[in-house]
Amino acid sequence: MPGRSSYNPKSSLAKWLDTRLPLPRMIHDQFIVFQTPRNLNIWYTFGGILAFSLGVQILSGIVLAMHYVASAELAFDAIERIMRDVNYGWLIRSVHATGASMFFIAVYIHMLRGLYYGSYKAPRELLWIIGVLNYLLMMTIAFLGYVLPWSQTSFWGATVIINLFGAIPFIGTHITIWLQGDFAVGDITLNRFFALHYLLPFVLVGMVGLHIWALHLVRNNNPLGIDVTSEQDTIPFHPYYTTKDTFYVLVFAIVFAYFVFFAPDFFASPNNYEPADPLKTPPNIVPEWYFLPFYAMLRAIPDKLFGVMVMVGAIVTLFFVPWLDSSAIRSNRFRPLMKRCFWAFVMACVVLGYCGAQPADATMAGVPVVWVARLATLYYFAFFWLIMPVVGLIEVPIKLPASIAQSALAGPGGTRSHLPVRDAWSAILSTASRQSSIVAKATSARKRR
Ligand code: HEM
Repeated sequence: MPGRSSYNPKSSLAKWLDTRLPLPRMIHDQFIVFQTPRNLNIWYTFGGILAFSLGVQILSGIVLAMHYVASAELAFDAIERIMRDVNYGWLIRSVHATGASMFFIAVYIHMLRGLYYGSYKAPRELLWIIGVLNYLLMMTIAFLGYVLPWSQTSFWGATVIINLFGAIPFIGTHITIWLQGDFAVGDITLNRFFALHYLLPFVLVGMVGLHIWALHLVRNNNPLGIDVTSEQDTIPFHPYYTTKDTFYVLVFAIVFAYFVFFAPDFFASPNNYEPADPLKTPPNIVPEWYFLPFYAMLRAIPDKLFGVMVMVGAIVTLFFVPWLDSSAIRSNRFRPLMKRCFWAFVMACVVLGYCGAQPADATMAGVPVVWVARLATLYYFAFFWLIMPVVGLIEVPIKLPASIAQSALAGPGGTRSHLPVRDAWSAILSTASRQSSIVAKATSARKRR
């Protein structure tokens, strides 16, 4: 919005660029002076962490693609060659494979944060919907990538998932053959999966651009879920949140590096080390951990078509969240009943994940896991379709603070939950300037002596 922009190009080059492609103006307005609620906590750094993860996946993926061969004959050996012969190939592959899991850890935290603080509510419905589309794209990209090493898990994972489409009445078999490009998963399937696995991350970059555009239009929600009412409630994005985001991206990178260097197979299945064999079905084939809750739902239902509908329904439900929640209050901080239901929902997802990892005939405290998964699935759907609309109507919320600034400045006894960034930043700056003036005085005294 040039009319309201405070950008003032100084050099003649900046002025020249500003009238032709005002990119510096956009960066200045949207990422430097951009007014952001002053109370964003650690959970608000996960958007930046996700962008970082996407960058890491694209960079490491491009290098891997330079050494990979998309052929059923050669793919498994190509991965072994990357691990053993390519310079730092082991590192790049480990970063990419572990990075996928780190990306999903971050996206689940990001989504739960959105659910907890009611960030999907008006005017952020479209922002949420674009987020769900990003999540769907991430799942597709991860599934396609998992097939590329052409191991037992790759082959059988692809076979199981593609065959789910076979449950669609009348056209199911045609869709399965169309997706495979053949009558069974094979060379042609691998080739198209590689092409799409390379393409879709760039589509995701575009979608993330839309996500951030939508965010900057409606601006951030915040842990209190109340709107910004005055200038006092906000601080500029730079240096406050650039510093905070960079710090937490570094913390995330340290955890990431721990897995890459000390536990590179932590998230992997041993079946990844066996080449694909269409004649040998592994006994307990499970998807990656981030798909387990949905896989548990699929297995909990005896009818294949109904199971697929429930699994797809679990994701489609997310699109409706902005209209399912009937409460006028956004943040669960002020919704005592909903807060409990939210944590029960998180538990249900963890239980579903656990059930998905167990063999189909296993038991949990004497109860068959399929039954535990059925109960957890029921709660999953009840949370969105029953609890969200009803609790909003019956619960008595806690009184909201008058403003973000009032809450942030209320002190430990108030609703303040952390040191506001501006205060922390000014404390650091004033300490730094005090120290530099002491050093300057000491140096000049030494010189005089
Ligand atoms: C590649 C995946 C994604 C990237 C890179 C991404 C990036 C971001 C960034 C940078 C922000 C602003 C900082 C923050 O609030 O953390 C943000 C906010 C947000 N994102 Fe995402 N996001 C992704 C996926 C998702 C998903 C899957 C959802 C939900 C289904 C989602 C929903 C939201 C919402 C509702 C906000 C606004 C939060 C608020 O203001 O309270 N995002 N996202």
